[in-house]
Amino acid sequence: MEQYSIIFTLYFLILTQYMPHIDTSRPTFRPTRLVSYSLPQKRQFKKALGFNEDVYLNFTELTDKYKYPTEVHTVTTDDGYILNVFRILPKCSDGGKPYPVFMLHGIFDTADMWIATGTRTGLGYVLASNCYDVWAGNHRGNFYSRRHVKLDPNQDPEYWNFTFDEHGYFDIPAMIDYVLRATGHTKLFYMGHSQGTTDYFVMNSLRPEYNDKVRVGIMIAPVAWMRHFNNPLALIAAQHYEAIKAFIDNAGLNEIFGREHIVHHVVEFVCELEARLCEVLLSLATGYKSGTIPLKDLSVAMSHVFSGTSIKNIAHFAQLVLSKNFQRYNEGIEGNIKRYGTRKPPQYDVTRVSSPVVLISGQSDSLSSLKDVDILVSKLPNLVENYVVPRSYWSHHNHIWGSNAPELVYSKVLDYLNKYKD
Ligand SMILES: *[C@@H]1O[C@H](CO)[C@@H](O)[C@H](O)[C@H]1NC(C)=O
Ligand SMILES: *[C@@H]1O[C@H](CO)[C@@H](O)[C@H](O)[C@H]1NC(C)=O
Repeated sequence: MEQYSIIFTLYFLILTQYMPHIDTSRPTFRPTRLVSYSLPQKRQFKKALGFNEDVYLNFTELTDKYKYPTEVHTVTTDDGYILNVFRILPKCSDGGKPYPVFMLHGIFDTADMWIATGTRTGLGYVLASNCYDVWAGNHRGNFYSRRHVKLDPNQDPEYWNFTFDEHGYFDIPAMIDYVLRATGHTKLFYMGHSQGTTDYFVMNSLRPEYNDKVRVGIMIAPVAWMRHFNNPLALIAAQHYEAIKAFIDNAGLNEIFGREHIVHHVVEFVCELEARLCEVLLSLATGYKSGTIPLKDLSVAMSHVFSGTSIKNIAHFAQLVLSKNFQRYNEGIEGNIKRYGTRKPPQYDVTRVSSPVVLISGQSDSLSSLKDVDILVSKLPNLVENYVVPRSYWSHHNHIWGSNAPELVYSKVLDYLNKYKD
């Protein structure tokens, strides 16, 4: 333990060389990057420290290593964002054309979350092994989708002017249309985790024509209403809303928790060298119960998490908590009138989510509490099942990283995929 703290201190000191300076000389409407340092992946250094290499291998390196042939596809949205979508080819054939499954990750994360824990519990691998054509999307602003036809994410704050609203309105439709064109199918399976479900509800509320392109939407740890969000960190945040709002206004539209930012490296380091501390972090953030995901898997998976989004996206979630509504981004009265034609932001109308939907949630998930899931249950017009995993300790990430996820979650998922084939 002691040697770890020494190494940690050293590492931290090295990292602080890259600490940002908040540039106050610029007007706040065009802020510079709040976190303006960049830290290249220091692989040699991590290797020397004896890190498990799965911690720093990227998606295609991991799928190469575990022998799941993968393609990288590039999709451009109507508003110019360039996204990477990974395709894990089916490992087998069940006769006809393989069915495409589109998967979307949660907040701060990337498509890595579907494969990080290896071939037994990585849902991307499990689906490919069950003959599905797996397409794992990356929404705008994450490590793999940090490009735009005109805007430079390192220079242009406008690049970061998005929240999960734009994921739902632009990113998923673009990726779904691409997958359907590439595979010659007219419908696909949609699978989302956490924010990947929020994005889905947004898409089908704002662009209900996309309901018809989905056979069934599997919503793992669904997030829409956050009325009962009782995370201690969020409560503190709510109490200091004014200060936080000032911070957000100053920080503007920029990036947070990027793959090359300090938090990513600190979490990677903590999780690799002192996994129990990593468990504490996850408990604070999500209600995770220590000891319910194998430490080795947790370390690798957590090391891939902090991979970038916009500060505005976080602000949008904060607005959900504070307003107790599932609504579009509040741009302020003037901004709302300009953007929506109303003084208040419109609500997302989830009664327009007419595709079949399966909800899968956990009893100890503080990000997706059962009471908030019940609001969805009362409004979704085509709910197939509201499945609460029968384990009291089940939290946000047990669904996708837990050693018993295959029995308790994936078997259910596979049953539904099978049921909604033609
Ligand atoms: C993963 O890393 C390798 C080696 O640096 C690189 O060639 C490859 O393009 C990366 N893959 C993705 C999807 O970024
Ligand atoms: C961000 O985008 C929204 C929606 O397109 C727009 O209404 C708003 O004015 C933009 N904000 C800034 C600061 O560019």
